Amino acid sequence: MGGMCGIVGYVGPRPSESILLSGLARLEYRGYDSAGIAVIDADGTLGMRKRAGKLGVLRDDLARTPLPDGTTGIGHTRWATHGGPTDQNAHPHLADDGRLAVIHNGIIENFAALKAELLASGATFLSETDTEVAAVLLAHEYRANGGDLEAAFRSTVSRLDGAFTLLAMHQEHPGLVVGARRNSPLVIGLGDGENFLGSDVAAFVEHTRSALAIGQDQIVAITPEGVRVTDFDGNAVEVEPFQVTWDAAAAEKGGWSSFMAKEVSEEPEAVANTVRGRTHDGIVEIPELEGLDGLFTGIHRILVIACGTAAYAGQVGKYALEQWARVPVDVELAHEFRYRDPVLDPGTLVVSISQSGETMDTLMAVKYARERGAKTLSICNTQGATIPRESDAIVYTHAGPEVAVASTKAFVAQITALYLLALHIGRVRGAVTAEQQATAVAEIEAVPGKISWILEHQQERVTQLARWMADSRSVLFLGRHVGFPIALEGALKLKEISYIHAEGFAAGELKHGPIALIEPGQPVFVIVPSPVHSPVLHDKVVSNIQEIRARGARVIVIAEEGDAAVLPFADEVLRIPLAGPLFEPLLAVVPLHVFAMGLATARGLDIDQPRNLAKSVTVE
Ligand code: F6R
Repeated sequence: MGGMCGIVGYVGPRPSESILLSGLARLEYRGYDSAGIAVIDADGTLGMRKRAGKLGVLRDDLARTPLPDGTTGIGHTRWATHGGPTDQNAHPHLADDGRLAVIHNGIIENFAALKAELLASGATFLSETDTEVAAVLLAHEYRANGGDLEAAFRSTVSRLDGAFTLLAMHQEHPGLVVGARRNSPLVIGLGDGENFLGSDVAAFVEHTRSALAIGQDQIVAITPEGVRVTDFDGNAVEVEPFQVTWDAAAAEKGGWSSFMAKEVSEEPEAVANTVRGRTHDGIVEIPELEGLDGLFTGIHRILVIACGTAAYAGQVGKYALEQWARVPVDVELAHEFRYRDPVLDPGTLVVSISQSGETMDTLMAVKYARERGAKTLSICNTQGATIPRESDAIVYTHAGPEVAVASTKAFVAQITALYLLALHIGRVRGAVTAEQQATAVAEIEAVPGKISWILEHQQERVTQLARWMADSRSVLFLGRHVGFPIALEGALKLKEISYIHAEGFAAGELKHGPIALIEPGQPVFVIVPSPVHSPVLHDKVVSNIQEIRARGARVIVIAEEGDAAVLPFADEVLRIPLAGPLFEPLLAVVPLHVFAMGLATARGLDIDQPRNLAKSVTVE
C-alpha cells in the first residue's frame, strides 16, 4: 500500500524523466523507501522503472539503462505501510499487459473484496499492494468502456473506499494523465503548453507558480493544452486557482549541510512572515478572519488538536489563548481525541495545528468535530492541503516549505500564529485591552531579531556542547509553565534525530517521581523562567535545579541574559534575550533545536531523514 507518498505527473513538450525525478527529489520528504517512474515514449510505448531504496537508487539505475524519452509521465516516491519496501511493491503498478500505469498515495480499504472479485474473473497480481488492485480494476473498466480512459477512471475511483490520490496513464493516450483524490492531497500546476500534477506544489514549483487546488472527490485530466476537473460522476466543477508564494530555491538546501540546518536558520523569518500583514497600529487583525467574528463570539471553549511538535505548539498556545481571549482551552492529541466520545457543540471552537495539513489523525479529528457541530479553524503551513480545506477558517503559518522530517521553523511559526489568533479573538470578544494588545504586538515583532541574536551568539557554543555530549545515554529536559511544552519539544527533537533516550518533565513534577532518574553525570536541560517577569516561578525552578544538582546531575540552563541567580548551580549557561512572559518559549526552543541537530550530526546521522519516520503522516 502507499501510505505516505509523493506523486508527480507531467504532460507537455519536454522529456519528462528529468522533470519527474526533480519533482520526486522535492517530494522525498513525504516518503523515501522506494521510487519509480513511467513514461510514454514517442512511439506510444509505456516504459517503467522502479526501485526499492532512496531516490538515488532509481536515478543511478536510469543513468545506467535509460528509459526511452517520453513527454508524458508519472512518478512516485513511497513510504510503505503494508507490503514491504521492495522493487515489486514500489510504484508505478502496471496493468493491461503493461500498457497502463498507476501510482497511488493512501489506503484503499476495500481492496481485499475488489481483489477477490478480480481474481475470480481471471486477473493475476504481481505485488501485495492495494494499488495494483486499482490498476487491474482500471484495466478492466478500460476495456468495458471501449478504451475511454477518463470514463474508466471515473468508474474505477467510484468503487474505491478509503483514502487515495491516484494517477494513471495509458499508452494508447499519450499526452493525457488522469488523477483523482479522496482524503489525500493532489494539486495541479499550470504551465505554458505543459501541465503538472503533484502531491504538493513542491513537485512543480521550479516550472510554474500558478496552481489549482482540487477538492475532495474530484477527478482531473491534464493534457499539454489544458486541465479538466470533474466530480466522480463526470460533472464539471469549479476549482480555485492560487499562486505559490515561494520559489523553487526556497525548497532547496541553498548551501546548507542539511534542510534542518537551513530551516533552523529560517526561524526568525518564519516568525516575521507569519506576523506580516496581520498587525497594525498595535493591534492584531488577521485578514483571513475578516467577517468571521461569529466563529469567536458565541464560543465558550477552545479545543486545540494536533500531533507531535504541533501539539506542543498547541500547549504553548493555550496560555496565550486563555490570557488574551479569556476562553478556557484544552489541548488534545488528535489520535486520542476522536476515540472517546468527546463533548462537542457549536460553542466549541476546534483549532487544529498541522505543518503539512495532511496528518491523517488530525484530519480525521477535524472532520469528526465538524460533524458534531463544532466550529473549526486550521493553523497550517501548506497551501491547498486537506486540513485547511476541511475547516471553517484558516490561518496559514508562513514558514515556507519544511523539508527536514523534524519540525523546527514550523513550530515557532505555529506558536506565533496561535498568539496572533489569541490576540485577534481577544479583540473581537473585547477581552484584551488596547494596552495589552500593543505590548504583545511589540513583543511579537521583536521576536525575529531575538532569535537571530541566539543563532548568532549561541549556536556555536550549543553545537560544541552537543559534540561533547554525543555519547550521552539519556538527556532530560525540565520546564515550567510555558517552558514545560518546550522541554517536551527539546526531548522529542533529540529522540527523533539522535536516537538518544530523552524525556521532558514539568519541573514541579520532579519530586513526584522523575527525580529518581537522577544519578551522577545525568545531563539535564532546565528552561528557567524570567526573573523579571516571573520571579516566583523563577525561584521555584532555581530550587528544582539545586535538588537535581545535589544528586549529581549535570545541569545545562537556558536562562535570560542577566539572570545571575542560576550561575552557582549551573554547569553550563545558555543565554536568551529578555522577553515578556509568554514570549520566552519562542526563544528557549532555539538552542534546543540547535542542540538536537548538533548532537545528531556529531553522531554521524542523517538528520533530515531520521529512521522510521516520514514528514507527512497520512495514515492513522
Ligand atoms: C516532530 C515532528 C512531528 C510533527 C507531527 C505533526 O519534529 O515533526 O511530531 O510535528 O507529525 O505533523 P503536522 O504538523 O504536519 O501535522
